[in-house]
Amino acid sequence: MKTLKYITVLIFIFAIFSCKNTPKNEAVNEKPFDQTTNWIVLEKSNTTQEADKFTWKFDVKHPADYVVQMVFDKLPTDTVSVEVAGQKFKEVLHADYKINSNKIVSEFQKTVKFSNTGNQIISIETKSDFNKIRIIPHYKNPMGSGKYDEEWLAMHQSPEKKAALNWFKEAKFGMFIHWGLYSQAGGIWNGVKINDVSQPGPKVAEWLMHAFQISRNEYKELAKTFNPDKSFAQNIAKLAKDAGMKYVVITSKHHDGFALFDSKYSEYDMADATPYKGDLVKELYDACLAEELDFGVYYSHGNDWMDGTDGNYANIKKVNDSLGIYTHPSGKNLWDPSPNTHAEYLESKAYPQIKELISMLPELKLIWFDGEGFITEDQSFKFYKMVYDLNPHILVNRRIGWGFGDYEDAGDNKIPSANEVVNKYWETCGTTNNSWGFKSYDHDWKSTKETLYYIVDIASKGGNYLLNIGPDGKGDVPVESKNILREVGTWMHTNGEAIYGTKRWSISSSEGQEETLLDGTTHREGKGFKKTFTSNDFWFTTKENNVYAISLVKPLGEITIKSFKKDIGKITGVKILGNDNEVEWNQNETGLKVNLKGIESNENGFVVKIVMALK
Ligand code: GLC
Repeated sequence: MKTLKYITVLIFIFAIFSCKNTPKNEAVNEKPFDQTTNWIVLEKSNTTQEADKFTWKFDVKHPADYVVQMVFDKLPTDTVSVEVAGQKFKEVLHADYKINSNKIVSEFQKTVKFSNTGNQIISIETKSDFNKIRIIPHYKNPMGSGKYDEEWLAMHQSPEKKAALNWFKEAKFGMFIHWGLYSQAGGIWNGVKINDVSQPGPKVAEWLMHAFQISRNEYKELAKTFNPDKSFAQNIAKLAKDAGMKYVVITSKHHDGFALFDSKYSEYDMADATPYKGDLVKELYDACLAEELDFGVYYSHGNDWMDGTDGNYANIKKVNDSLGIYTHPSGKNLWDPSPNTHAEYLESKAYPQIKELISMLPELKLIWFDGEGFITEDQSFKFYKMVYDLNPHILVNRRIGWGFGDYEDAGDNKIPSANEVVNKYWETCGTTNNSWGFKSYDHDWKSTKETLYYIVDIASKGGNYLLNIGPDGKGDVPVESKNILREVGTWMHTNGEAIYGTKRWSISSSEGQEETLLDGTTHREGKGFKKTFTSNDFWFTTKENNVYAISLVKPLGEITIKSFKKDIGKITGVKILGNDNEVEWNQNETGLKVNLKGIESNENGFVVKIVMALK
């Protein structure tokens, strides 16, 4: 969590590097875009003070998510109360970094959303002495200079991209696969578990090289023993099909830099460096197409611990230092960086590999970029345009960087609130235990019911769910994970109509219980999943003139769906998915009553299909 907070302040100034692609207009080049333009800095000397409460009025020029920071001479000791944009929170600040003026910058965990431009008020209550407040754009939505906006929008709104996005919205449910050299280690290195190392960073198994600071030469050795079973591709495609998934996205190259495909631009790949000698991406692509599944690749463009030097850390740090922003090295190779520059890595490996993947996989549906942290605005745009020029039907995700994604993500294992405004279509990616890559000792498997809950909750809020598996070094998928997927598949087989191609229902996304907001991988790992479902709980989706009310408990007796009181509109038919006959129903002032007599019992619930009269 700490790491995340540190990172929040890093990304805003990258555009300073970002002027090299507009040679036509030298004048623009001379005046680099300064990300601090969007900062709101409130001096203590300009406040209205009442006892320990300090209040400022300020102007928001750019609606976005912001991080609130305080600047001190000495670390604060008390809890600080904040009130801003309708939000109130009380927190101990995280006072871990100094800025070059020797002042201490500390920030709140809570981020603040400004949905509109205009006047705002912030109040801070504290006994600690401080110098100023800084309200700065959140790292997840770094603001670019705007110089590419028009060109990007023309591509993003092209008929090809629109058709691709429609495909994506229809698909709804996909398989994510984290698989690579690290899968052989299962989260253990020289007998030590990744969870037991003090090195900061995610304790997920694909971060092996980073967690143990393994040198590039030593890590490379793992390729010599990577020899999975030849049936990998078929098995995986079949599993995805059985699970009712519509597309598959595999880590073609994760942060460790190893390519699962045969690349001309690196010997450090499946075909050249392993005894397997094949191209697993192509094999899986063919197997998926044979199963009528669509195909996408994950590609870590920003991080490459083998060839991507320090991930641009030193360059970024230089600029950050001059602005008084702490630069957290998380996720970058600072233990054994390759001797080249990051720009050279992009030119010699990342751009060419993206081109290779696109030409090798003509039906490729999406590229899931990752590790964008220190990528510049120019570089992100170059990736976007390159993909578009080669195949405009390919979608790219948010993590391409700088707002150039065709769709949003809610965050790893994160379900947003129904109230959150999302400007683009969105997806959540999630794990079956608490790691993406195979971790031999993580047995905290989500139950089928929990997994269904995520699928249903996300669909009811209008998103896609990309559910991960982490096969072991031989390519075998842990049996618990397989079982979850197959049981989900059984549910989808009967109830998929309520998921595929559906939209958020304009009236409500659910009724009955409070939302459980899943707030990231470590949140679920730490808190577990404590939720019971009752026959009063329903999640809604809609397609054409049908609304689907999804329940996650056994069908028993008579149920009442309160959102369907008479004034909602006329209902012309009610069915339970998987049953041919109409059930007895009655719509009145309290809602829609449905008699479930004779409906086959299923632990994982049922779906009421409600046909509304056409208006
Ligand atoms: C995080 C992890 C990375 C994983 C990704 C999946 O970025 O660091 O290993 O691939 O999440 O969303």
